[in-house]
Amino acid sequence: MVGLLLLLPLLLLPFVLYVAAPQIRRMLTTGVCTSTVQLPGKVAIVTGANTGIGKETAKELAQRGARVYLACRDVQKGELVAKEIKGLTGNQQVLVRKLDLADTKSIRAFAKDFLAEEKHLHILINNAGVMMCPYSKTADGFEMHIGVNHLGHFLLTHLLLEKLQESAPSRVVNLSSLAHYLGRIHFHNLQGEKFYSAGLAYCHSKLANILFTRELHRRLKGSGVTVYSVHPGTVKSELIRHSTVMSLMWWLFSFFIKTPQQGAQTSLYCAVTEGLESLSGKHFSDCQVAWVSSQARNETVARRLWDVSCDLLGLPVD
Ligand SMILES: *[C@@H]1O[C@H](CO)[C@@H](O)[C@H](O)[C@H]1NC(C)=O
Ligand SMILES: *[C@@H]1O[C@H](CO)[C@@H](O)[C@H](O)[C@H]1NC(C)=O
Repeated sequence: MVGLLLLLPLLLLPFVLYVAAPQIRRMLTTGVCTSTVQLPGKVAIVTGANTGIGKETAKELAQRGARVYLACRDVQKGELVAKEIKGLTGNQQVLVRKLDLADTKSIRAFAKDFLAEEKHLHILINNAGVMMCPYSKTADGFEMHIGVNHLGHFLLTHLLLEKLQESAPSRVVNLSSLAHYLGRIHFHNLQGEKFYSAGLAYCHSKLANILFTRELHRRLKGSGVTVYSVHPGTVKSELIRHSTVMSLMWWLFSFFIKTPQQGAQTSLYCAVTEGLESLSGKHFSDCQVAWVSSQARNETVARRLWDVSCDLLGLPVD
């Protein structure tokens, strides 16, 4: 009898969890961008905008009246998304441009066309990313994670910087991740040639994103361009396409995982919220300033990574 009484709650637990799931999910996924700022006349670029968080971010910017460039590797997919966003928001100024962040030629071509086409750039969202892909290299021979997540966006930001400065006040939002905590910058193994783990390579590149946000902030002080790095939360997206284990975990815990729309809130918050300028260079999660690891605060590493990145990309160091 006693045994049964003890067993009962246990049997009920899955049911209770199921019923309470929306509540629990809300607790775990606080952070909604409540700003009502409208963006008519503003120009925005979102990289990797044809799926997941990028797509939702682009949609929300279009909803607020901005002209939004979807910078995508797959232009055909991009066009479908643009059509969908135009239909949903009534904003016809949603444009698709080819951008492959794993190829510096493509990045340069994208920037060149954009600069010729547009007088302004107010919001740049460095959203695209790869996660846990098997060891592979970009067109320029960089390891894929550091190449796309860090160097690709570094070059893109660099090429668009003057336009951002001319358009000030303007903002750059860099998507990083809590995973940066496990990241380290191994200067002797930046391209993963001596040792490589797909999971850690992702963490390293996300640490690089934060270091860059901080270094760029330092360099841009007073220019009217402000920069933010963002942890979007645990979001179901195509990022996990390379990992079966992750896909399984995602499925198991899907109740507690943010939708792309919820995942886009912190990017959006950093892109539009009024009065955020004094927090430039900071890292955000759930629409609040968030903790970063001590590596991510190391200015010596940030400066050296900046110089090494310029070197790798053939950019003048300062
Ligand atoms: C964003 O991250 C990229 C890649 O790490 C970097 O190149 C770029 O300078 C960063 N931008 C900002 C504004 O921090
Ligand atoms: C920054 O990182 C370097 C190299 O890892 C280390 O030697 C140095 O002590 C760190 N500085 C701080 C302030 O943590």
